[in-house]
Amino acid sequence: MSNKLIIFDTTLRDGEQSPGASMTKDEKVRIAKALEKMRVDVIEAGFPVASQGDFEAVCAVAKVVQDSTVCGLARALDKDIDRAGEALKGANSGRIHTFIATSPIHMQMKLRMTPDQVVEQAVRAVKRARQHTDNVEFSPEDAGRSELDFLCRVIEAAINAGATTINIPDTVGYNVPHQFGELVKRLIERVPNSDKAIFSVHCHNDLGLAVANSLAAVMSGARQVECTINGLGERAGNAALEEVVMAVRTRQDLFVCDTTLDATQIVTCSRLVSGITGFPVQPNKAIVGANAFAHESGIHQDGVLKSRETYEIMRAQDVGWSDNRMVLGKHSGRNAFRTRLQELNISFATEDELNATFARFKELADKKHEIFDEDLQALVSETGTEADNEHIKLVALKVCSETGETPLATVTLWVDGDERQAQSEGGGPVDASYKAIETIVNSGTTLQLYSVNNITSGTDAQGEVTVRLEKGGRIVNGQGADIDIVIASARAYINALNKLLSAAERAHPQI
Ligand code: KIV
Ligand code: ZN
Repeated sequence: MSNKLIIFDTTLRDGEQSPGASMTKDEKVRIAKALEKMRVDVIEAGFPVASQGDFEAVCAVAKVVQDSTVCGLARALDKDIDRAGEALKGANSGRIHTFIATSPIHMQMKLRMTPDQVVEQAVRAVKRARQHTDNVEFSPEDAGRSELDFLCRVIEAAINAGATTINIPDTVGYNVPHQFGELVKRLIERVPNSDKAIFSVHCHNDLGLAVANSLAAVMSGARQVECTINGLGERAGNAALEEVVMAVRTRQDLFVCDTTLDATQIVTCSRLVSGITGFPVQPNKAIVGANAFAHESGIHQDGVLKSRETYEIMRAQDVGWSDNRMVLGKHSGRNAFRTRLQELNISFATEDELNATFARFKELADKKHEIFDEDLQALVSETGTEADNEHIKLVALKVCSETGETPLATVTLWVDGDERQAQSEGGGPVDASYKAIETIVNSGTTLQLYSVNNITSGTDAQGEVTVRLEKGGRIVNGQGADIDIVIASARAYINALNKLLSAAERAHPQI
């Protein structure tokens, strides 16, 4: 059995299925490049048949990525498979991932198909995919609730039809580690041609067990793990890439395989995905949370100062946290700015993007004495998450907030070339600002989420605001950062509105 563990990242596909996490083509390309740089083996770039936008995004990722395999998802239907094949035409190395459900409940209630029909369709799909590429992955969806004998039958047939990777999904996150590990072990033992394919796992986190289940499967012989940056994904998400990779690497005394991932890119990728999707990372999140390597208790601090290993099982630098946090100030020039960003592995597609970010840096440096790496990363994320076409821009915001008085906001917006102003009262300064914005744009959206995080510590830290807006079933996240959290809030709201209004309309990837 191979000692290489393949990392299959599905941030751009399953991750995008998180409500509000939909990404533009350019955003997907930025993330794909970062994943490639991190040496992810397979990047699942989307579900080409789901929408024209998804198709184009997979084409674009397939075109720019050279070192990782680019994968497109397809139901076990000819039209899905052909669309995926077409999207992957330009790929240096492409893979089609086709799936059909195999659990009794899915077959009866969702597909309304007999087990025989499911096997037949799975075989047909794999054969069809093989007409496009010799790199074909097959998933029996909801394998975690499927019957073992039937799973063995469908998997054997899929391998005979030409599947080179067999992925075992715990689609609804129902399994527990010892059970899931046992399932993978028995499949590898019982499927007669199991040695002709790589076994993979794809675990959802509904019970908070996605990483544990994935690791149990690796112990049982799985040699590919499907995962996402920050554990993004449908419902409670997928197994977090950073946790799987670091668990295997840190516990080489237990695992007989390892990944070839460049783990020093993990924090950069985490920030990029968080910035683009607007899904903040909780401070106590393993590996990539702000507190993951922070020692608060005096006893711990003392121990770490005497010997780091007393309380640390990994080195922060090994996953990309930098020691040198205080970097630039208002006298720093463009070269210093560019150099520091390069040290943080951040690059720009165009000189215009660099200039726009540098202009924002200068604005921030005028207000904030010390600019930390985290501030720079937030600036870059914000520039990168601007909607393709900005219909609305914040020109000015004035808020009066006083004890015992009702807050009053005056907002000036640029809307498709016109400058407009409105005033509104509200329960608080943010509420007043949002009402004033709505007086101008009358968007008809519903605010589903509003959250503020401080990017660094101190009262002059930038606040990073995330809002989630819904309209007609379409959900978008917007982000804004500023040392004034009311301005950050207005920016986040406008960012989300621009995404909703963006001409680059994309359907939700679930169909
Ligand atoms: O969760 C799941 O079953 C999936 C499949 C498409 C692999 O995402
Ligand atoms: Zn999934």
